[in-house]
Amino acid sequence: MASLIAPSILSADFAHLADEIAAVTGPEGADWLHVDVMDNHFVPNLTLGLPVVQSLRAATEVPLDCHLMIEDPDRWAVGYAEAGAHNVTVHAEAVRDPISVALDIKAAGARAGLSLKPNTPLDDWVEALREYDTLLVMTVEPGFGGQSFMPEMLDKVRRARTMVDTGHLTVVVQVDGGINADTVAAAAEAGADCFVAGSAVYGAADPLRAVAALRRTVLQ
Ligand code: DX5
Ligand code: ZN
Repeated sequence: MASLIAPSILSADFAHLADEIAAVTGPEGADWLHVDVMDNHFVPNLTLGLPVVQSLRAATEVPLDCHLMIEDPDRWAVGYAEAGAHNVTVHAEAVRDPISVALDIKAAGARAGLSLKPNTPLDDWVEALREYDTLLVMTVEPGFGGQSFMPEMLDKVRRARTMVDTGHLTVVVQVDGGINADTVAAAAEAGADCFVAGSAVYGAADPLRAVAALRRTVLQ
């Protein structure tokens, strides 16, 4: 499984999103573009929703990775798939019927992702994961960019990797939160294969180089 780097536009300038996406696009650039959807209920922050995702879809060829930090994802997730998202991730703590949501997302043509907050145990989700394509192990509490990576999540990443490999699942193990030049190697070593980075990319003088540098580090 190739490693994927997914810059998070949460740390981009929202007044110039198309330019900010262009800034991480290129042969060495973003594999996926991570789009954090927050509703001010599931997390105490409010970002963007479906109309913005629809516009982004028309503005870039980079696959959109929508991370839904919202209540009632059972109702809303399929809309993001229909809007052309490549991957739609719902939170385990918010979803009511994880199997139907995954099936609906996939029927609408997207990959289905399941995300676990730091305190949510992996073991409770092993069966449901059979229907998912992506497992997001949050390495910070969701809600804000720029937080510090939680090293105690590395064990969860390791267990996720083992579970995916021993179960012969084709699930991408994604990490999100505090991923930067100092932490990405540990996450890769623990078995993650998709790396979301917001502030480490958009806070860099050259975001495209920052993406390329993260990729080089995980491939070492
Ligand atoms: C946080 C979001 C992340 C955020 C990561 O809730 O899910 O995607 O953009 O930001 P950094 O990389 O700055 O921790
Ligand atoms: Zn995210």
